[in-house]
Amino acid sequence: MKRLIWCMWWTWALLVLMGSGGMGCLEEERNALLGIKAAFNSPNGSSLSSWSDDYGSNCCGWKRVVCDNATSRVARLYLNNTRDLDLGAWVIKASLFLPLEELQVLDLSENHLSDLNETLHLKKLKRLYLSNNFLQQIPALYKQTSMEAQNLSSNQLEGPNLEVLDLLGNTLANDALLDIARITSLKALDIKFGGLSASTLMEGTPMKMHSFFTIGN
Ligand SMILES: *[C@@H]1O[C@H](CO)[C@@H](O)[C@H](O)[C@H]1NC(C)=O
Ligand SMILES: *[C@@H]1O[C@H](CO)[C@@H](O)[C@H](O)[C@H]1NC(C)=O
Ligand SMILES: *[C@@H]1O[C@H](CO)[C@@H](O)[C@H](O)[C@H]1NC(C)=O
Ligand SMILES: *[C@@H]1O[C@H](CO)[C@@H](O)[C@H](O)[C@H]1NC(C)=O
Ligand SMILES: *[C@@H]1O[C@H](CO)[C@@H](O)[C@H](O)[C@H]1NC(C)=O
Repeated sequence: MKRLIWCMWWTWALLVLMGSGGMGCLEEERNALLGIKAAFNSPNGSSLSSWSDDYGSNCCGWKRVVCDNATSRVARLYLNNTRDLDLGAWVIKASLFLPLEELQVLDLSENHLSDLNETLHLKKLKRLYLSNNFLQQIPALYKQTSMEAQNLSSNQLEGPNLEVLDLLGNTLANDALLDIARITSLKALDIKFGGLSASTLMEGTPMKMHSFFTIGN
């Protein structure tokens, strides 16, 4: 009897280790990815079929997900060209991505996305690809806490780290550029405003042109 209990205990311990252990991705991140999958498939799509909700499935092994191999945290997410376009224009909640705190690259190109609702508050995000969607405004990237708003110097230190923003092929409204100008960390911007050349639009903004190179139109 004692032996049986020991045997059961070890089996249980082994299962726990496999389910939550150092090799796999975080449960929290796996759940976030499953929420993102559900959003992409709403109401009746069938994308991201390799993303399995089997307990213990390691999300670092899923297609389009790249983890940091040291921490097993999700570092890059390639969701470009993922949505079944027959499902039409849609809005994704930016908060779905929030548990992916270590995310550095997010590719949402070619998904007929018309908006990212709420704030994409990802402090580690360096590259955001949004080309060929139906966006009219720049997604909110960082929301100041009231303390930070009172303290400009700390806000500058803690602002977004975004370096690359790809917005080519969207129908951005003109005032969207003012939001871009606030992202002081940007090094590259890929943009195309209907008809107008990007350099014309740059002139009207407080943005420091020399810190940019402009690709596209
Ligand atoms: C989803 O449903 C809509 C309407 O019911 C239909 O037009 C569309 O083809 C469906 N898409 C898929 C991928 O099943
Ligand atoms: C992570 O992967 C890179 C390249 O694939 C490799 O050079 C590095 O040693 C790996 N780090 C760890 C902790 O495994
Ligand atoms: C998504 O973009 C990456 C490069 O950023 C590319 O290698 C990959 O083929 C693209 N996937 C799809 C389905 O377009
Ligand atoms: C954005 O989210 C809020 C709260 O969840 C909701 O009330 C609003 O309708 C959403 N907007 C869009 C365009 O989906
Ligand atoms: C404002 O930011 C500076 C520099 O980060 C910091 O030393 C100071 O304590 C901050 N003040 C407040 C009220 O947060």
